[in-house]
Amino acid sequence: MEVIICPSYDEMSVRAAQEVAVVLNTKPNAVLGLATGSTPLALYKELVRLHKDEGLDFSQVTTFNLDEYVCLNPTHEQSYHYFMQEHLFQHINIPPESIHIPSGTTRNHVAFCDWYENRIKECGGIDIQILGIGSDGHIAFNEPGSSLGSRTRIKTLAKVTIDDNARFFKKAEDVPIYAITMGVGTILEARKLLLVANGDGKAGAVAQAIEGPVTSMITASALQLHPDSVIYIDEAASASLKMCDYYRWIQDNKPGAPKPE
Ligand code: F6R
Repeated sequence: MEVIICPSYDEMSVRAAQEVAVVLNTKPNAVLGLATGSTPLALYKELVRLHKDEGLDFSQVTTFNLDEYVCLNPTHEQSYHYFMQEHLFQHINIPPESIHIPSGTTRNHVAFCDWYENRIKECGGIDIQILGIGSDGHIAFNEPGSSLGSRTRIKTLAKVTIDDNARFFKKAEDVPIYAITMGVGTILEARKLLLVANGDGKAGAVAQAIEGPVTSMITASALQLHPDSVIYIDEAASASLKMCDYYRWIQDNKPGAPKPE
């Protein structure tokens, strides 16, 4: 697990977008896992800039989003379908049929979740999965207590997540209580995990995820089990980490490591 501390949110976002661009430039038909929320906004802005200014091509890319609120129509302004159109899809050249987002309106959650899992496999698995982290340490909507082997399913949101996300809704009572989310086990099958976190509100969760024990109480700690995970954070989100100097030392010396011939 690599920890990269950036001086600002903007630099964190640009560097994380470069990680995605490397994957897409190496494998034009890559499968990209996407997150929503306020954290990846500048990352998506940079992907859009790379597409417009530098020709980053999404024409062969397939995407899978992590989650969607249950009961929100795709046209609802707070649905993750709407978010993705607004902030990414309408600005890039991805074919609409290559986009997958969990359905918030399916009548049969179990069948839908099975289909979603199978569809990821049919598409060859996720090459790089973008993740945020909740203040309770969740990835996707895998709230505390979610099995580290969990698969795509309907999940009840924790009270703290509902409170955190109330800022996007007119009233706290409007925040949906349920979501369909990829499971921790689903996420761990992606070939690369890229988690972004900024702000002091995330410092506690980030420290527990990186330096705490692997536990279903902080599902982001499952990244410790993954062979290729990278975490980009800004200074504020790094505030509770004990080993900052060590992470910086590793990053400073990494370019000098012997390269394969
Ligand atoms: C959303 C998702 C969530 C968010 C997390 C942080 O697709 O996967 O886990 O990443 O709740 O949200 P923000 O970025 O709004 O703080």
